[in-house]
Amino acid sequence: MLAKLPEPVEIAGGVHWIGALDPDLRTFDLILKTANGTTYNAYAVRGPEGVVVVDTVKEEFSEEFFTRLEQVADYDEIRAVILNHLEPDHTGAVPELMRRAPHAHIFCSVRALKVLTALLKDELDNYGYTLTDTGDRCSLSGRPISFVNTPYLHWPDTQCTFLEDEKLLFSGDVFGCHFCDDRLYNDRVGDFRFSFEYYFKHIMRPFKRWVLQAVDKIEPLAPELIAPAHGPILRDNPLSYVRSYRTLSNSYLPNEVEGREKSLLVFYMSAYGATADMAKAVHDGASSVEGVRVSLYDLQGGETEPFVDLIESADGLVFGSPTVNGDAVKPVWDVLASLISIETRGKLGGAFGSYGWSGEAVPMIEDRLRGLKMRVPAKGLRIKFHPTDKELDDCRDYGRTLAESLVGKAKPKVVDFADL
Ligand code: FEO
Repeated sequence: MLAKLPEPVEIAGGVHWIGALDPDLRTFDLILKTANGTTYNAYAVRGPEGVVVVDTVKEEFSEEFFTRLEQVADYDEIRAVILNHLEPDHTGAVPELMRRAPHAHIFCSVRALKVLTALLKDELDNYGYTLTDTGDRCSLSGRPISFVNTPYLHWPDTQCTFLEDEKLLFSGDVFGCHFCDDRLYNDRVGDFRFSFEYYFKHIMRPFKRWVLQAVDKIEPLAPELIAPAHGPILRDNPLSYVRSYRTLSNSYLPNEVEGREKSLLVFYMSAYGATADMAKAVHDGASSVEGVRVSLYDLQGGETEPFVDLIESADGLVFGSPTVNGDAVKPVWDVLASLISIETRGKLGGAFGSYGWSGEAVPMIEDRLRGLKMRVPAKGLRIKFHPTDKELDDCRDYGRTLAESLVGKAKPKVVDFADL
């Protein structure tokens, strides 16, 4: 069922879906796989005093959008254009829409203004706009509308718009997924559970604490219909998707929920066993600190994705890598590159490794950890060739120092001028 819909679809009283279908898309935003394509959902809300447009579509689908819009409204009836999120897949048709709709006034979040200015450039001076925040209410075209600011789901600008008389939440990217099916409704389209969770994992997951704040605002509204900007419209049990966002944002180890233990993960790769011996010593040293649960993983023995799940709920990460051709080894980089999908800010980080000539791997890993906004409390440990017993003691000290830092027992740091 992937043929293009010829007509707009009325999804609630006076509310039409006027979006576009993109069944052939296979990669979204360079990183997301979209085996089912996607949709760019936009809506028109008719009231006694005119029409409100909620979001638009990607630019190349503009004509499809305008064709549907023209079937439910004349351009001079449009009183408001609400932009829940200003990424180009939802604002591609905005410049042309504003040129065609002479009475349209823009509504977007306070944080969206910079992007709106970049989108419309000098033309913005020709239009009126209102910046919205949570709790703002108004009558637009005679329909009661309120706004819910949902920053970082997944851009700073994002908001949801609530049509109060229909209890309909226009949720932007939130509760969306990349799934294209012209039957539109969640109780009629194919099984999209995988797409919903995949989308959350790659788009919303780094912002879990913001997701929980947003869910706290949305649940009391008890929406009876959720109309996201991508994928199926959620009319069957819409609150289950809100609850799902809460569940997906609450994954912690049992002890961490109670705040009894910190989790420190030690990952390593080893060519000749030297970095492996270092890893075991780092693990042993860290394990001697009470209140820290330490886990040791050889990256040769696992896939990257499950490790990313582990890392998300950990408090500290230490990576061991030999230096090969002046670099850390690929499995280490694979894990480090995958961390963009989770929140790493504030976690503790460390690096160690054996080397033969130059030993760049350790400082390169440390730079990456700092780039991920992690704190690196101790200088990484590099050992030439195989560690001696004395050097293994240094590894145990290093692990102990990291673990003590994790539980707030670290000794004051003495800065060596040679390190500056
Ligand atoms: Fe669907 Fe963040 O754009």
